[in-house]
Amino acid sequence: MSASPEHRVVGRRTPRVDGEAKLTGRADYTVDHRLPGMLHGYPVPASIAHGTLETLDLDAARAMPGVVDILHHGHFPDLRRSPNSMRQGNAVSEVRLPFEDDRIHYHGQYLALVVAETLEQARAAAFRVEARYHTDAGTVAGLAAGDAEGDEVRHYTRGEPELAFGIAPVILDATYTMAAESHVPLEPHATLAEWREGGQRLVVHESTQGVFYQRNALACIFDLSPERVEVISHYIGSGFGNKLFMWPHAVATAAAARMLGRPVRTVLPRQQDMMTTGHRPASRQRIRLGAELDGSLTSIQHDSVTETSMVDRYIDACGGATPSAYACDSVSTRQRILSVHRGTPCPMRAPGEASGLFALESAIDELAVALDMDPLALRLKNDAHQDPRSGLPWSSKHLDRCLESAAERFGWAARDPGIGAMRDGDEIIGQGMAAATWFAARQPCAARVTLRADGTVLAACGTQDIGTGTYTIVAQTVAELTGVPVERVEVRLGETDLPAGPLSGGSMTTASTLPAVAAATRDALAALRKVATGPGGAFEGLDRDALGIEAGALVAEGRRADFAEVLGRHHLTDITGEGSAAPGDERQAYSFRSFGAHFVEVRWDPGISRLRVARVVSSIDVGRAINPVAARHQVEGAIMMGIGMALLEGLDYDPRDARLINANLADYRIPVHADTPELDVELLDYPDYRFNEFGARGIGEIGLTGIAAAIANAVHHATGQRLRELPITVEALM
Ligand code: MOS
Repeated sequence: MSASPEHRVVGRRTPRVDGEAKLTGRADYTVDHRLPGMLHGYPVPASIAHGTLETLDLDAARAMPGVVDILHHGHFPDLRRSPNSMRQGNAVSEVRLPFEDDRIHYHGQYLALVVAETLEQARAAAFRVEARYHTDAGTVAGLAAGDAEGDEVRHYTRGEPELAFGIAPVILDATYTMAAESHVPLEPHATLAEWREGGQRLVVHESTQGVFYQRNALACIFDLSPERVEVISHYIGSGFGNKLFMWPHAVATAAAARMLGRPVRTVLPRQQDMMTTGHRPASRQRIRLGAELDGSLTSIQHDSVTETSMVDRYIDACGGATPSAYACDSVSTRQRILSVHRGTPCPMRAPGEASGLFALESAIDELAVALDMDPLALRLKNDAHQDPRSGLPWSSKHLDRCLESAAERFGWAARDPGIGAMRDGDEIIGQGMAAATWFAARQPCAARVTLRADGTVLAACGTQDIGTGTYTIVAQTVAELTGVPVERVEVRLGETDLPAGPLSGGSMTTASTLPAVAAATRDALAALRKVATGPGGAFEGLDRDALGIEAGALVAEGRRADFAEVLGRHHLTDITGEGSAAPGDERQAYSFRSFGAHFVEVRWDPGISRLRVARVVSSIDVGRAINPVAARHQVEGAIMMGIGMALLEGLDYDPRDARLINANLADYRIPVHADTPELDVELLDYPDYRFNEFGARGIGEIGLTGIAAAIANAVHHATGQRLRELPITVEALM
């Protein structure tokens, strides 16, 4: 499907404009910044999960070479907690300040920050810090430790769910559990903090998905006006949600820099990154489905409990998609959270809904088996043609097309539904499928665009590129509207000195940022037209509206003048436009979601107990893909994360003492290249112009929804085993 005619650059496969800088090492990640006199921080983690720190013996560490200072509860400034408000823009991941008291709430919680001349010296000294604890009884290691239900935090009901279950001829009732997952971004969390102007101005380089949230939170914590704090994040080695909001290492590092009057950089070692910067919480979900014999759903119940920490109340909303997922009159969802002695969880790619759709889409498959119905036909039968939650029409929904197109490419019609009926040599083939969905939302955004006399354009916005391709789609947008080639558009992102931009999260960046960039571009072009038609201008006396834009030039009456020529006549070096965009009232008229379908083939070799995902065919409906090559990579990456979720990943906490056992990449298993299946990802091209002028809803998260269920459903088809606990291990199949 081709780009629609009105767009020449937007919608076209575009190589990443930052690709060369990344491949040649010129891209400046946080750890690439070195400042004169810079010191290195290395945190000391607690080795218990629940208790009190009694003594901290620092003598041996202080005597180590290069040690400058050691910060801890008895030696730390008095700071204020951030209000942690999304609305005020100062949300943080963990509200508790570092070293706030002597209580220990999770394994890995910081006891101290050793600061030394080199990283090696700081690390060596950190290992010499001796802590003595009083360990408390009553440690809650996790959901699996007991049957505690936690506190109810959300509840939704429509219709009469219990009444409907009472008369449903078919009822499915099953409980699904998922282990906690670690984000493991390639680049660990890192902070470089420097105080300037005699301690009146704080400049922080941070690997973050939200420079403005971190700026505002630091301003609250250090009691500064936000203008006195600058946060910079030019390049990020991904985040997947655990870099959305600030963690305590950044506060400790900024405090150390102020106390010592020198810049301090802290890079979290992988183990501490996995202990202290969040995870997708473990979950237990009960799904009840009531249906007629023809497969019509009459009642859905989705009860979830997810973990949070002892210090924060993080809600991973597993039932978020359920009220909108299927046409069904009676639905109830209930969300509880249970406080456990683990670090604070946080959003992880498709937070809540990725877990929720594992349960829901597994249950739909179980219902199809119970009804002796094709699971594809069951989903089509219950497709919701308007949003059953709001009653509003969808802005654009093509789930049926996703299901049918992916089924056709996969060859679903040739599937033998019998358990273990499909074989290839020693391998049993299992085929399963599931639907995908993720909400679409926008945030306010501002941008600035400068047309320069050298023929280049500068676009600036304080959002970030977390590796998803934001630099490139901003350049494409400017190129689209100016006709200046992408290579001549310079994009600046990731600084709080730029016009305020949104979080890189929630799949909202594209839809939030591009309309603002377009508005700023149009503003700059309007200013240029004004100059060109004014006294001494290239088109003096002409009506501004008569001037067209063509390939970096103004055109009218068969004449053209390059932007550079227009500016040059007036000895201008550049001309700047400002623009902003924010959600309008579109949500009063339409419901906005993205949709998709995954079809999966697994191969199970019982002789050697090998289970692998061999093939994934997906169709995704996210409106317009601005850069189809980067968009496809988002979905392919999400599928790989889904393989991890389904078959490999899980943080293991010792049930006796809540210590995290596998905080390293040897014992925490993630998919590697050898696990990559044959991937066939199709992006449907149904631009959603009700959402924004580019028709894009965003693509970061949807690929991860439904994929784990599709894999589990394929495993059932191959083996006859319905495994409701993730990750599915070969041990469980033996
Ligand atoms: Mo995503 S969990 O919003 O980074």
